[in-house]
Amino acid sequence: MKKEELKNLDSEYILHSYGRVNAAPEKGKGAVCYEESGKKYIDFTSGIGVNALGYCPDNWVEAVKEQLDKIQHVSNYYLSENAAVLAKMLSENSGMSRAFFCNSGAEANECAIKIARAAALKNGKGFNIITLVNSFHGRTLTTLAATGQDVFHQKFLPLTEGFLYAEAGDIEALKTLIDENTAAVMLECVQGEGGVLPMEEDYLKAVRKLCDENNISMVVDEVQTGIGRTGKFFSYQWAGIIPDVVTCAKGLGGGLPIGCCLVSEKHKDIFAPGDNGSTFGANPVVCAGAREIVKTVSDEKFLGEVLKKGEYIKKSLSDCEEVEFIRGKGMMIGIKLKNKPAKEVLGKCIEEGLLILTAKDLVRFLPPLNISYSEIDEGIKIFRKVIEA
Ligand SMILES: Cc1ncc(COP(=O)(O)O)c(C=O)c1O
Repeated sequence: MKKEELKNLDSEYILHSYGRVNAAPEKGKGAVCYEESGKKYIDFTSGIGVNALGYCPDNWVEAVKEQLDKIQHVSNYYLSENAAVLAKMLSENSGMSRAFFCNSGAEANECAIKIARAAALKNGKGFNIITLVNSFHGRTLTTLAATGQDVFHQKFLPLTEGFLYAEAGDIEALKTLIDENTAAVMLECVQGEGGVLPMEEDYLKAVRKLCDENNISMVVDEVQTGIGRTGKFFSYQWAGIIPDVVTCAKGLGGGLPIGCCLVSEKHKDIFAPGDNGSTFGANPVVCAGAREIVKTVSDEKFLGEVLKKGEYIKKSLSDCEEVEFIRGKGMMIGIKLKNKPAKEVLGKCIEEGLLILTAKDLVRFLPPLNISYSEIDEGIKIFRKVIEA
């Protein structure tokens, strides 16, 4: 279908909950995709951190196709090999004990919140969850409540009760909010939508200590940071801590929908049969693809390359006059420009053949983790052309 016709169809029949930009990728390989017209894009977005190994990686496609020929879905009342093996792989890479599979980051966070509250009830604690200002945890009414950004709340009140917000990175602010009504602290180690803001390792260690001292759960949302994005399999591993509950989604499926809530040994028996569920969760086709993603990404050498490529991107912009600062970890990169608005730069990059993201007033890059150096060079050349114009 021609792009103009597609635009009209989209505009007429799809609910306008997204501000569309002028790109319509219809096929791709690695970090490159094409429109119907043949227009080429270098992709620094991975579909907001989803296509962890780029478009249609061979091993992933093969595993997904092979599983499609066997069986497409089984109910969670039955045993399923791909889910069980994937759970074991995630456990080995996280220090967690058990996995619950669902279909999105928000659902994984819903599960985490339920676990934290059920654990608190068992321990005679209250139900409050403390999250951070500028956090982002999803779009359901409860994960919106967890999201510490008022701008997302206004039209949808009342939200789920029992959420308090502490200034990010401020351990004293967190301390003052914790009392006998607190069930958990929930945070992202690098705030993604909130502006690619990494938390200090000392802060994360102090949060862990505070949670231990108060016998409350530490929940880490790795939906955007997980599966190698920051150069460790999970970003909390930079601080050498082990949370009680970890959520992931986005990159885990390599492009197919999956969410996962991982729980520690301490919390493994909090749920009893019937306490949570998901019709589509643990789908064998999605889990077959996810096994390939985890196999590739968990390799230390691969993770080392993610870190190196992240540094390479930062370095290739370090002499740029228009760049005020660059922050982030691994291949999760935020760039503050001095004069050019991020949204305007995004539009111009699309015109020139580069897909980028924004986060607040920053430009954000989440390239496929296996992007090549030459693809990085090609993308950076376009980006520099746009911001130096
Ligand atoms: C940190 C974080 N948590 C949760 C979510 C929500 O994930 P989903 O859109 O898959 O529900 C996102 C999405 O951007 C995210 O970045």
